[in-house]
Amino acid sequence: MACAAVLVPGLLRGPVGAICSQAALLKSTRGALRHLTLTSIMKSKRKTDHLERTANALRQEVVTAAKVCGTANESPSVKRLRLLVADQDFSFKAGQWIDFFIPGVSVVGGFSICSSPRLLEQERVIELAVKYTNHPPAVWIHKQCALDSEVAVRVGGEFFFDPQPADASRNLVLIAGGVGINPLLSILRHAADLHRERANQGSGYEIGTIRLFYSAKNTSELLFKKNILDLVNEFPGKIACSLHVTKQTTPISAELKPYITEGRITEKEIREHISRETLFYICGPPPMTDFFSKQLENSHVPKEHICFEKWW
Ligand SMILES: NC(=O)c1ccc[n+]([C@@H]2O[C@H](COP(=O)([O-])OP(=O)(O)OC[C@H]3O[C@@H](n4cnc5c(N)ncnc54)[C@H](OP(=O)(O)O)[C@@H]3O)[C@@H](O)[C@H]2O)c1
Ligand SMILES: *[C@@H]1O[C@H](CO)[C@@H](O)[C@H](O)[C@H]1NC(C)=O
Repeated sequence: MACAAVLVPGLLRGPVGAICSQAALLKSTRGALRHLTLTSIMKSKRKTDHLERTANALRQEVVTAAKVCGTANESPSVKRLRLLVADQDFSFKAGQWIDFFIPGVSVVGGFSICSSPRLLEQERVIELAVKYTNHPPAVWIHKQCALDSEVAVRVGGEFFFDPQPADASRNLVLIAGGVGINPLLSILRHAADLHRERANQGSGYEIGTIRLFYSAKNTSELLFKKNILDLVNEFPGKIACSLHVTKQTTPISAELKPYITEGRITEKEIREHISRETLFYICGPPPMTDFFSKQLENSHVPKEHICFEKWW
């Protein structure tokens, strides 16, 4: 069985204007690898391995030490991890993933960061949410990882949102399926941070409206629903969400009900939000990603405005 925990960047479709092209500026700041050696990379043999699949993706060179500073269950199948990354030179862009090196585990994991770049700047913390599979890094996270466990991480990926202050204002449509919410939550949180900063300082990037379409099997598998609804309530008219469940078997709580639609996200509801100022970010099961990116292309959305990341 393929592994939900391993993230594979989609076919890169060219930079999203000035926004994605920042990837070219990824710089390594330090070559030293602490605590761990890279021999583990050489030992990963699976063809479907994260490192092999992402071999051509942009990634930083530096591997940075990190320490587990929190774990929690986000759903019956997904564990949330907080990592403290003390090194001030470590940074990432909203939407990017990390190579995840675990001492004693020869396979290197690949996980999208779901927290915002500001959380790292302010608290030196990044967050991951990892679905249980039999992939060794996911098994380690679910069964062995504990507070203060030491790992190492390296940032990569070309799926991100990183506008500069003078860039043109854009609306965002974020389309997520299952664990594909991870990079999109980071982007949503970053968009909220940009909006807060602009409101507080009167300067900085001016973001348009942000709409999240997020589909999961049922409400218990809808990850981060409270965080998402908190953002929707903090920024009415600015951030909106449409949550979908496709295999719900139990009644939906009164609190969630107003936000939930039963059935898949439809092409029609996405089409209503097409405009020249809108960027589309898609991450979910590959057939879903293919479907929506194709539909958008058919609706004449320029390819540079459609960004996607595929998971296997
Ligand atoms: N060989 C494999 O095992 C394999 C191969 C490809 C993808 N995947 C899975 O893709 C997964 C992504 O995460 P997940 O497991 O959390 O996802 P998931 O629970 O299987 O799906 C998440 C949501 O996306 C919806 N969806 C799927 N295909 C869609 C489409 N074509 N159009 C619209 N909506 C669609 C699903 O609706 P429905 O309930 O209606 O499907 C569900 O609500 C990975 O976990 C991976 O396991 C696995
Ligand atoms: C939600 O879906 C998951 C995965 O299919 C399943 O394991 C779980 O039992 C479901 N929960 C509810 C409350 O239906």
